[in-house]
Amino acid sequence: MTEKPVALIVLAAGQGSRMQSDLPKVLHRLGGVPLVGHALATGRLLEPEEVIVVAGHGAEAVAKAVAKLDPEARIALQEEQLGTAHAVRQAMPLLEGFEGRVIVLYGDTPFIGEETLANLASHAADVVVLGFEAADPGRYGRLVTGPEGLERIVEYKDADEATRAIRLVNSGVLAADAALLREFLPRIGNRNAAGEYYLTDIPELARAAGHRVEVVTCDESETLGINTRAELAQAEAAFQARARARALEDGVTLSDPATVWFALDTCIGRDAVIGQNVVFGPGVTVESGAEILPFCHLEGCHVSAGATVGPFARLRPGAELGGDVHVGNFVEIKNAVLDEGVKVGHLTYLGDAHVGEATNIGAGTITCNYDGVGKHRTEIGAHAFIGSDTMLVAPVRVGARAMTGSGSVITQDVPDDALALGRARQITKPGLATRLMQALRQKKGN
Ligand code: UD1
Ligand code: CA
Repeated sequence: MTEKPVALIVLAAGQGSRMQSDLPKVLHRLGGVPLVGHALATGRLLEPEEVIVVAGHGAEAVAKAVAKLDPEARIALQEEQLGTAHAVRQAMPLLEGFEGRVIVLYGDTPFIGEETLANLASHAADVVVLGFEAADPGRYGRLVTGPEGLERIVEYKDADEATRAIRLVNSGVLAADAALLREFLPRIGNRNAAGEYYLTDIPELARAAGHRVEVVTCDESETLGINTRAELAQAEAAFQARARARALEDGVTLSDPATVWFALDTCIGRDAVIGQNVVFGPGVTVESGAEILPFCHLEGCHVSAGATVGPFARLRPGAELGGDVHVGNFVEIKNAVLDEGVKVGHLTYLGDAHVGEATNIGAGTITCNYDGVGKHRTEIGAHAFIGSDTMLVAPVRVGARAMTGSGSVITQDVPDDALALGRARQITKPGLATRLMQALRQKKGN
């Protein structure tokens, strides 16, 4: 075992033509995030000093997505996709001065496990290739091993019958010391069946120069790569199955696991209860003991202990629910902080707002936060009471312990402890309803 600094190179320049898509393959979503986010997230667990993503097809869009997923990752451009060795070469200038272990991952291979990567990072050999015993070795590169480890990798296209019979195959993941890659990458040619610069030539070259080259194996399920929409759908199913199993193991109640959808980073505390048909987009944390009732959609939000949400509620990015908050049916919350004990029972939109502790928001309340150009904030104090069907025309502030009358359109700030009524005064005409009805019937002739 060695503990060297680690750098990651994630290959993501390929077109992915079999996806039949205008979107670069690595930007298709799995578990709510672009495919490339999975390799980046697992790779980050090794605490690498450098993370380089090699982009080519749709490089601009890939770079934009990577900046969001992993702001410290850098992009190397591979303008023409001349092969995996060529791709790694494009990343090497960004690793100038780096001395340590380089791990090459694929952006379209999302399930490589943390433990597997740690094994590659700490292995004593100079080059380590991640292989697996394939149920169907198909078109994978074949790993030719001998008494001293890995002798060479033969690509399917270049393999003879005997070599094709080998079932130990290349996952594509490779670890090697940076100095070794600097030395051998430039020596790789493209005289092969595909006319490409194969990264898989590294083992044979390194071994010929006296380096130690080994195989580390993992389960085939970790190496699942995505080439088609059908494979993407299968991968999503596999991802969801694992996420559900993990939630159950962690002590989360899932009323009907098969109907709950998770994102890569969904984080749910012990004894939380998740009802049927709940969808978690990216960036959600639900604390211990909170309850999400059926048919809710959550994204970029935080739900504190003791809170209840739904059924049929939508929490959008920036929704922060404090302890024991209650959010009921047909409520949408975006970029709003609800302090402890706030109740928003029914049919409400709260956007760009702060609601103080224990305040009650009546049914049909709307923060009118958008004027067609800009967004504006609504501030509501603690222990306030917002009457049903209040329109809060932002920017506006309602003080602590203040009340608004039902049906009010609140356009001016309401001081602490005040009652604000912003609606037409009621007038009542005795008997007029009956007389009006009679007149209307006479006019119609019956
Ligand atoms: C590669 C391996 C093969 C292995 C298989 C596992 C080589 C030569 N072969 O074959 O041994 O069994 O993966 O899936 O390495 N890419 C670039 N730039 C390029 C070429 C590829 O970024 O110029 C990226 C692709 O986007 C993809 C990955 O590298 O994510 C692998 O490329 P691909 O063409 O799919 O390689 P395979 O033929 O599958
Ligand atoms: Ca492939």
